[in-house]
Amino acid sequence: MRGIGQKTNFFLDNKTEKSIINKLRDAGCVFAEEETQLLASETGSIEELMNRVEKRVSGLPLEYVLGFTKFCGLRIEVEQGVFIPRRRTEFLVQQAKALTRPNDVVLDLCCGSGAVGAALAAGLTKIFLHASDIDPAAVRCASRNLTKLGGHVYQGDLYEALPDSLRGRVNIIVANAPYVPTDAVQLLPREARLYEPKAALDGGKDGLDLHRSAAKAGLDWLVPGGHLLIETSEMQGAKTLEIFVKAGWITKIVRDEEWDATVVIGTKSVEPLEPWGRFLRQ
Ligand SMILES: C[S@@+](CC[C@H](N)C(=O)[O-])C[C@H]1O[C@@H](n2cnc3c(N)ncnc32)[C@H](O)[C@@H]1O
Repeated sequence: MRGIGQKTNFFLDNKTEKSIINKLRDAGCVFAEEETQLLASETGSIEELMNRVEKRVSGLPLEYVLGFTKFCGLRIEVEQGVFIPRRRTEFLVQQAKALTRPNDVVLDLCCGSGAVGAALAAGLTKIFLHASDIDPAAVRCASRNLTKLGGHVYQGDLYEALPDSLRGRVNIIVANAPYVPTDAVQLLPREARLYEPKAALDGGKDGLDLHRSAAKAGLDWLVPGGHLLIETSEMQGAKTLEIFVKAGWITKIVRDEEWDATVVIGTKSVEPLEPWGRFLRQ
C-alpha cells in the first residue's frame, strides 16, 4: 500500500497498481510504471484515477489526461485540442533567452499553450510579454499560463491579432508556427494526428506558409536591431533561411543535434531600408 505525490489522498494497493500498469502496458504505453505513478500522484480519488486510466488506455495523450506538461522545468497547462509543447522547442527558448535584455518587449507568435512565452518570462529578469494565436482554445489556455506571469494574450491571424501600439516596439519575436508540409501530416505519430488540431501542425504545401507570412510582416513590428526567431526542421532549414533573406533580414541558422532542433534567427537591420531595397524584396 502506498500513497504517491501531493494530491493523492487515497491508498493505491499493490494489486490495483499492478493491474493499472498492465492495462497501460497492454494499451502500448512504453513507460507504464512511470505513467501509473504520475497519474496517481496527480489524482485525488481512486474513482478519478480509474477514469483517467481509461482515457489513457483509449489513446488520449498523457498530457491531456493530466491537463499539464513540463516545459523548461515549468508546469504548463494544456487542454485537449491545444498543441502539446515539444522538448525540442526548449532550444528555441534557449536561443531567444540569449538575445533578450531586461525590459524587452517579447512576442510569442503562434503561442499555443504559451509554453515558450512562459519559459522566457520565468527565466528572465523582467520582460514585457505578449502572445497571440489564431485558435480560441489556445488563447484560453495561454491566458491561464501567461496572465499570472504578467503576459497579455490576443486572438487572431499572426500579427493582425496585436494592438497597433506594439508596432515598431517589439524587441524579440519568437515563433514555433506550424511547419509540417500538408502531405506529411498523415505521417506524424498517431497521438499528434488524432488529437492535436491540424491547424497547429499543417504549414501548407511545403510547410513554410507561416514562415513566409511571419518573415514578411515581422519587420514592421520590431525595433531596429530586433530579432525574429523561428523553429524549423533540419530539412526545411535552408528554405526558411532563404525566405528570411528574401524578406530583408540579416540571418543565421542554429542547430542542436541532441534535441534535433533547428532555429532560424532574423535580425532587423539598424539601417533604414532604401526604397529600391523594399521594391526588390516584394
Ligand atoms: C506548432 S503549434 C506551437 C504552439 C506553441 N508555440 C508551442 O511551441 O507549444 C502552432 C500554433 O500556431 C497556431 N497558428 C496556426 N496558424 C496560425 C495563424 N495564422 N496565426 C496565429 N496562430 C496560428 C496554432 O493554433 C498553434 O497553436
